Amino acid sequence: MPPHTQGRRSVAAAHQPTAQKEVIDLRPPRGTRDFPPEDKRLQAWLFDHFAAVTQSFGFEMVDYPVLESEALFIRKAGEEIVDQLYNFEACYKGDKGGRRVALRPELTPSLARLVLSAGAGRPLPLKWAAVGQCWRYERSTRGRRREHYQWNLDVVGVAGVEAEAELLAALVAFFRRVGLGPADVGIRVSTRALLGAVLEGAGVPAAAHPAIYVAVDRADKLPIAAVEAELGALRVPPAAIDALLRTLRIRDVGALSEVLPPDSPAARDLVVLFDLAAAYGIADWLHFDAGVVRGLAYYTGIVFEGFDRAGALRAVCGGGRYDRLLSSLGGADLPCAGFGFGDAVIVELLRDRGLLPDLGRRVDDVVHALEESLRPQACAAAAALRAKGRSVELVLEPKRMKWVLKHAERCGAARLVLLAPEEWARGEIKVKDLSSREERMVVGVEGLCQLE
Ligand code: HAM
Repeated sequence: MPPHTQGRRSVAAAHQPTAQKEVIDLRPPRGTRDFPPEDKRLQAWLFDHFAAVTQSFGFEMVDYPVLESEALFIRKAGEEIVDQLYNFEACYKGDKGGRRVALRPELTPSLARLVLSAGAGRPLPLKWAAVGQCWRYERSTRGRRREHYQWNLDVVGVAGVEAEAELLAALVAFFRRVGLGPADVGIRVSTRALLGAVLEGAGVPAAAHPAIYVAVDRADKLPIAAVEAELGALRVPPAAIDALLRTLRIRDVGALSEVLPPDSPAARDLVVLFDLAAAYGIADWLHFDAGVVRGLAYYTGIVFEGFDRAGALRAVCGGGRYDRLLSSLGGADLPCAGFGFGDAVIVELLRDRGLLPDLGRRVDDVVHALEESLRPQACAAAAALRAKGRSVELVLEPKRMKWVLKHAERCGAARLVLLAPEEWARGEIKVKDLSSREERMVVGVEGLCQLE
């Protein structure tokens, strides 16, 4: 039995299906989660860290609907994310317009939509943050599910790698806050310009590049022959396929000259980015790795991915520059860079490292009337304490003292506030400190509120 149900009448016991009732499956749909209180506490802890970094880096929170127009996510580059869409025709009562909608699989297209609408005319850069639930029909594995929450930070309107450097610094700030160090997590960084240079050299037109990046991204998941066949189908010449696969193996910025001329803007970007990373004090978290391509078609420059060094988990987070997404939605392009950080892999990683916090239930006070005639006074005491900003669990039914003590322990209460007939007759309330076991009497609700 889970600890939170021990010694109590359980909810399940109270709702045994009867013979007459239809029994429904009480599990959430495969790959999705319920959040009972203990899981919700962990989520709140995680989201507080997301919020703290968002705030400390000067980003503003925005939000979008979970249900979006399907067209926002349909891209023709062969991305997995498009095949994983939860999409359907919306048939609302009285409005059977047959609109195609989708549960969003990511937040970036919604961000682009908002930049073009509410963002239009605002001074740049926009530094927008969001935390939202995303839906992907994926095979569920450890840290990968069919719904997950993503924390996103995006910078709109900065063309230089100063934006990426700031985003990478924010990622490291988050990792540090939750107790992870560069021995636990690394961030692989590359730029799509590397593969772009190879393709350009082979005469492959720029419009064909995004689909090729998506295919190349599978190089570490599929047998190499399958990737070669896919690239062949995209009309990449065999010599260029060889050069692409060779380029992916480059791990040293010094070896970039094999692919890029030393004065190329992409090589310069990488040098500047790594210099800025050193200035931020995050250099030991970052690694140049040409093997990072990322599976989303819209990235146009620097790309990066957080990984656990033990190699047990899938990407912790990922992002990059996407300077042409706005025009794909019919707007004028602006330079954009950002990242998405899921809530699932990080929890697995923190669990593996023994870094998950111990988050019991916590209230400041449990208030109890030992006799029902004192219930109005107990309500008044609870109201006064709450008005003071304390969190108060008021016992709502007649209960024995043994139950109340146990309940206070389960609530993680700091104090027990007791209204007893004899004491109240003298205008007094008993306050028990549950850690020191010290008891004191106070005069009335006013006396209670004056206690520290
Ligand atoms: P993504 O790499 O598809 O990028 O997802 C970003 C992160 O979301 C992943 O690294 C992982 O932490 C989490 N994630 C993705 N899919 C799942 C899943 N099925 N289960 C659990 N966690 C998952 C994007 O979504 C981009 N839109 C990120 C971005 C924002 N790029 C620029 N701005």
